[in-house]
Amino acid sequence: MNSNKQGTKQMIQVTKRAATYRNACKRMHKQSIKLGSGAFANVFLKQADYPSAVKLARFNEECPGKDGYYNYLEAIISSDNPHLPKVMGAVLCKPRECNPYVKVELEPLVSIDELQLDELVHVLSTSFGMNADCLEYVTFDYLIDELVTKFARGCRDCYHDTYCWSAELRDVAVIINNLMHAGFTLDIHAGNIMFRRTPFGVQLVITDPLSFCRSSNNGRTFTV
Ligand SMILES: Nc1ncnc2c1ncn2[C@@H]1O[C@H](COP(=O)(O)OP(=O)(O)O)[C@@H](O)[C@H]1O
Ligand SMILES: [Mg+2]
Repeated sequence: MNSNKQGTKQMIQVTKRAATYRNACKRMHKQSIKLGSGAFANVFLKQADYPSAVKLARFNEECPGKDGYYNYLEAIISSDNPHLPKVMGAVLCKPRECNPYVKVELEPLVSIDELQLDELVHVLSTSFGMNADCLEYVTFDYLIDELVTKFARGCRDCYHDTYCWSAELRDVAVIINNLMHAGFTLDIHAGNIMFRRTPFGVQLVITDPLSFCRSSNNGRTFTV
């Protein structure tokens, strides 16, 4: 997978000549370290010229058009918003007579468990506009809860209580809110948000905010 972020709009490629999901995961397991997994995806560390994460994600109801992650990926794939994962490439894999899945190469990110308390305070003050002095004496768990609750509330209603947020974070809430209006269900929890360490401090990255599509009308069919 090549990065074509500069210039042309990045798209999700499609291939019918792909290994089954099971075999693709087995192959990645042999070659690399597993970074994590959730209900639908296994994520591996790929060590090439530069380290990257490879996410192999199955589809909810086996249909990309109804899958929250696939639709989110389509919406964010070319974005430079710092609160979105940087995607180097994505392929919709359609093995013959097997369920489809998506293979995404993206930047490796840091999970919430790896974060220091002061990094979490930095995120809450720079992105959510909270007063860092007031956060000094509370626990790590309280801060995680605060972050998750605040972000989820902002996705449900982008114009309520988001006036202190950074413009970039509000833009992400708007993308998610639009997909919620199309029928996708919000799925914000500590496992679906990650962090990027940069020389300028840690940044919140929204990796997997939506699950399936509730509306039967909004599931798109793919004829590849
Ligand atoms: N870019 C990434 N870098 C490192 N680990 C990741 C990355 N993306 C996901 N993970 C890990 O994999 C887990 C599952 O990924 P996620 O995107 O939530 O998929 P799903 O919940 O659909 O299975 C995450 O909770 C996290 O631990
Ligand atoms: Mg998840």
